[in-house]
Amino acid sequence: MIDVSAIDPSIQVMEVRLTDSDDLILQWSDNHIGEIPLDFLRLYCYEQPNSTPELSTYFSKASFMGLVLFLAWLKYINTAGVCILKNVPTEDQTVTKVAELISPVQKSIYGTSFDVVSTPNPINVAYSSAHLDFHMDLIYYESAPGLQLLHCMRFDSCVEGGESLLLDIFHVAENFRRSYPVEFHTLSRVPATFQKIHYERESPVHMIYQKPHIMLNHRHEIVSINWAPAFEGPLSVDPEDVELYYEAYHKFAAAIQNSPAIIELKMKPGDLMIFNNRRILHGRKEFNLNGGVRHLQGCYVNIDEFKSKVYVLSNQLGDKEPIKRVGNQCWF
Ligand SMILES: [Fe+2]
Repeated sequence: MIDVSAIDPSIQVMEVRLTDSDDLILQWSDNHIGEIPLDFLRLYCYEQPNSTPELSTYFSKASFMGLVLFLAWLKYINTAGVCILKNVPTEDQTVTKVAELISPVQKSIYGTSFDVVSTPNPINVAYSSAHLDFHMDLIYYESAPGLQLLHCMRFDSCVEGGESLLLDIFHVAENFRRSYPVEFHTLSRVPATFQKIHYERESPVHMIYQKPHIMLNHRHEIVSINWAPAFEGPLSVDPEDVELYYEAYHKFAAAIQNSPAIIELKMKPGDLMIFNNRRILHGRKEFNLNGGVRHLQGCYVNIDEFKSKVYVLSNQLGDKEPIKRVGNQCWF
């Protein structure tokens, strides 16, 4: 109801007083009175240090039940970037039920959920038995999924290989910033091309999206990474940026491959992995079925819905500790 343009920019605070309940009462020169809780001012203070939360151990410290435990799980995903639930019943679509605890599933060109199982003529290399290099899913979308869930339905003991690979690329990128500041800047400025152009499938797809590999906020902090080499299209940038881009790209790719932070694990039936698709790279080692089956079922959750759930539960449960960096894209 307020017309901002009608507010006189020269108005000033004439008098300030603090109430017993820690509210500031402000008397303004245009005679209106403002009431602002001190907690609000502390939370949004411009001069507070910008602290990146430490990777913590919310989950192991938690001794809560029900919703509180659920919130602890969500916070753990938010802080650590990845979490594995054990002994999740290996029934069809359990993965979507787990996702729906957070929000409706984010559908994609692979449907509501997808099955990662080796097939003879796969429409995606994931559906073969080949080695899968580190990547993020659906980066050619403008709205790439925030969270990915992968549920191990079957992993027969005769299957050789097929270990899952995970890497927190925020750590890689922070180290890269220190070692190669010029290249880091290039990768945060010059847009890569991500594309999925595939007409020989039941429902043809043609998606192209340009964005830098490293996304920074106004404080130059990393808020998300875009990394999906198999889905990169022709670079389409100013000529003077081409060589700069490829030099930086090559160094960053080497930093990923040589990172000491790579996690390798073999999923077991009942394991349900959930990870931040803008921060955690995933891949897998080649496998040989030996007559057995390796079957993962997966789906996605929109990051905005996840953020909303964390905030709502946190406020409803009386857990008022400020949540920072939810979903990477913002710091409040
Ligand atoms: Fe993937």
